[in-house]
Amino acid sequence: MTTTRFQILVCDGPSCGLCLDSEALLEHIQARVAASPRLEGRVHAINLTCFGRCDEGPNMLVRAVAEGEDPEIEPEIDAIVGARGLYLGMDRARVDRVLDEHCETGEPIEEWVESY
Ligand code: FES
Repeated sequence: MTTTRFQILVCDGPSCGLCLDSEALLEHIQARVAASPRLEGRVHAINLTCFGRCDEGPNMLVRAVAEGEDPEIEPEIDAIVGARGLYLGMDRARVDRVLDEHCETGEPIEEWVESY
């Protein structure tokens, strides 16, 4: 069990947002977080425009929130380039596993995770 605060960035560019309904995925994450005492207040999910991997979407990036950082604000691109925490081709089942594993233990799911 980790106490790390996480920010989950869900892309909502034209491809993942309009064609693949990533907004529904974001709402699912937010509902799951709100319903979990272990995640609520520690995990924050917001939109990010695009990871440039639209063909593999919808995608999301899980990253630790830095001390003093507001997790409700989209980070500068420099803060996330190279970050290990990118998950591609997300659906509700995959999101649930990331919440249950990565966000609970602090350890990425090695067989799924990539660096951005
Ligand atoms: S909109 Fe999802 S990767 Fe581009």
